[in-house]
Amino acid sequence: MNSIKILAIESSCDDTSAAILEDGKILSNCIASQTIHKEYGGVVPEVASRAHQANIVPVVEMALRKANIDKKELSAIAFTRGPGLMGSLLVGVSFAKALALSFDIPMVEVNHIQAHILAHFIDDPHPPFPFLCLTVSGGHTQIVLVNNYLEMKIIGTTIDDAAGEAFDKTGKLLGLDYPAGPIIDKLAKRGNAIFEFTEPSIPNLDFSFSGLKTNILRFLQKNIQQNPQFIKENLSDICASVQERIVSILMNKITKASQQTGINNIAIAGGVSANSGLRMALKEKGDTIGWQVFIPKFEYCTDNAAMIAMTAYYKFLNEDFVGQEITPLARYNF
Ligand code: KG4
Ligand code: ZN
Repeated sequence: MNSIKILAIESSCDDTSAAILEDGKILSNCIASQTIHKEYGGVVPEVASRAHQANIVPVVEMALRKANIDKKELSAIAFTRGPGLMGSLLVGVSFAKALALSFDIPMVEVNHIQAHILAHFIDDPHPPFPFLCLTVSGGHTQIVLVNNYLEMKIIGTTIDDAAGEAFDKTGKLLGLDYPAGPIIDKLAKRGNAIFEFTEPSIPNLDFSFSGLKTNILRFLQKNIQQNPQFIKENLSDICASVQERIVSILMNKITKASQQTGINNIAIAGGVSANSGLRMALKEKGDTIGWQVFIPKFEYCTDNAAMIAMTAYYKFLNEDFVGQEITPLARYNF
């Protein structure tokens, strides 16, 4: 039997990525990041869409070259259908449609959030089913009960901002570049969590981060009134304190989810799972209470096409294909 070779495209936000998978193994994973958004303090949808148009052909060519695969050998083409920015998604979907048509190969549509979770199956060890996944990105904060590759249920979600947004909006208040998550993470290593920010009391397994933002804003305003240099003089300690609070909110909810479901296999996924404070807290908790903890490699935490390819592989095995009538979805629940 011929091997299964899939080209996957990810273009949901501000990274254009292409990956090649052969029989469940990733051969290449190329990413073109758009640094232009730094100038605006956030992703500008129109700018992102145009940059995807410029990047997609070279990124796909690079992924094919690195994998030493010719387009004619492809078994299928996969793409992110959503959730994401409509203009960005459209570039990936249109590219996939054109390629599928010209090479007469099937298309596989992928949910971006499911793909973040299935990034855990790129390398060993794979989490055993069922497991709980704390999915924390710039747009989402969810606790997902994963019963099988494509059988997942959201059991907790944010009622306002996502955890990544909490990092990015704090960064804006502190005058840091976008995305601020990795910068706050780095600065926090040099500081101490000496400032106290309140933990919201949200019922069930849901999250809220908008109150924290207001809390930080008021705290900064009050201190700057007394000392205009407050941020500059205390930046590392502020970052350490904010990070500690975000991590404790996440850890408390995933602990509650584990107690409620009796599941001790715990994974994290999405851009914020690159955070060193969260990674450390999860490992420590795992060691103390006997969780089996799964933390993805850094390169598979933030947006990448390897995770799209991995998800597409399981869908390909189920012959779960879509036709040329497919459209992207800015909001896409599973
Ligand atoms: O998954 P992702 O690449 O894109 C979305 O699907 O949203 O996540 C991006 C988010 C941004 O909010 C970014 O600030 C955050 O992940 N992030 C981090 C770190 N690395 C990325 N947040 C905290 N610490 C990090 N090391
Ligand atoms: Zn993402």
